[in-house]
Amino acid sequence: MSSSSSQNISQALEEAKARYVVRNAKSKSLHEEATKSFPGGNTRTVLHTSPFPISMKSGKGYQLTSEDGHVYTDLTAEFTAALYGHSNPVILDAVNNVLNNVGLNIGATTPQEQLFARELCRRFDLERVRFTNSGTEANLHALAVARLVTKKRKVVVFNKGYHGGVLMFWGGKPAPNNVDPDDWIIVKYNDLDAAVKAIQSEGVAAVLMEGMQGNGSCLSATPEFLAGVQDAAAKAGVLFILDEVMTSRISASGLAGLRGIKPDLKTFGKYLGGGLAFGGFGGRADIMGAFDPRQTPSIPHSGTFNNNTLVTHAGYAGLTKIYTLDIADKFFKIGESFISKLQETVEGTRLGFSGVGSILCSRFVDGDTEVKDIKCADDFTENEALKDLFWFEMLEQGFWITRRGLIALVLETPQSELDRFVGAVQAFVSKYDDVLAF
Ligand SMILES: Cc1ncc(COP(=O)(O)O)c(C=O)c1O
Repeated sequence: MSSSSSQNISQALEEAKARYVVRNAKSKSLHEEATKSFPGGNTRTVLHTSPFPISMKSGKGYQLTSEDGHVYTDLTAEFTAALYGHSNPVILDAVNNVLNNVGLNIGATTPQEQLFARELCRRFDLERVRFTNSGTEANLHALAVARLVTKKRKVVVFNKGYHGGVLMFWGGKPAPNNVDPDDWIIVKYNDLDAAVKAIQSEGVAAVLMEGMQGNGSCLSATPEFLAGVQDAAAKAGVLFILDEVMTSRISASGLAGLRGIKPDLKTFGKYLGGGLAFGGFGGRADIMGAFDPRQTPSIPHSGTFNNNTLVTHAGYAGLTKIYTLDIADKFFKIGESFISKLQETVEGTRLGFSGVGSILCSRFVDGDTEVKDIKCADDFTENEALKDLFWFEMLEQGFWITRRGLIALVLETPQSELDRFVGAVQAFVSKYDDVLAF
């Protein structure tokens, strides 16, 4: 990119930022208040945006309304968890039923938890499942059981992999607050030779991977990579754990079902709780049997809210009454068509979109890396100024997208809003064509 183009972008960015400050004055003052109790005014790092985050007042259907009174079409969908939107009547009924007829904090097993478990097992081809309160926790438990069962410690993971707040890997290292500083072998995503070598090395208990890296530009594992990892793990006696926390909504049977693979264990979270905090992990009965409390010894797996009445009712209602197999198939097609339209719109520019079904990500490539050469997030660097400019301008057009580019669809979003977004992207590409052209 020429230096005059860079200057134009810097200027456009400064102007967009200035408009943002004016449009969102109440959010600014709320942020200043928040800094008095939260470090940096924040209790969830991904939601921090500079110069300050927009504060939301409410959500209804597929829309969000900010404290400054702006209405947005929600294309963030709570980082995929808000598949059912913000006020789906089926979810509200399930929650109201619990509040009025079932009660909170029962402190005992319930028939409802097994209905929900059965549905999850059926959908995602699990022999046994256990519940947690988050995707992070699900991964921690899956790793713990893998290590106990195999009596080994090391875990093969992939650069840019995100498996939770204390399980992140970028820059070839675990994040500084990772649960274990050591015991990881971090491999480039989609590099099968390197993955096989790592899996075959001494002392490896498990390989933990996403079938599409939600934090790595929504780039997918190639079918050969997925099959090759599964095969190498099986041969080496290493457990293959697929993190489906984000991707389970991609099709009626998650990414594993879509790609025809059969991991030893899978982990879950996000929308499966019907919009409430949830996580789960499951798979082979012989591995999960390690938690069977009728046996001695067995692994204790606790969690006060694991089987809470709100989540077991709302999650079950969501899967059986909203996201039925048929609806999941239809939604997959809607998402794929949306991605294709966006890809056509930006063809030949620095702006790219990748993803599967209803989860995708935008990216602005710096330098000269062609789209066809991008196999994983390590293959390119991002132009942060363009990324920021895109975010500011899409907000002005009434689209709530994440700063980092992740987009996830809410089930009830009208097609007209998806088309309007494609139009907004087209307008952005035309407005900055000199800078965006390769
Ligand atoms: C792939 C993946 N795994 C695990 C997690 C962690 O889930 P949670 O935020 O529920 O702890 C996330 C959350 O974004 C995720 O995307």
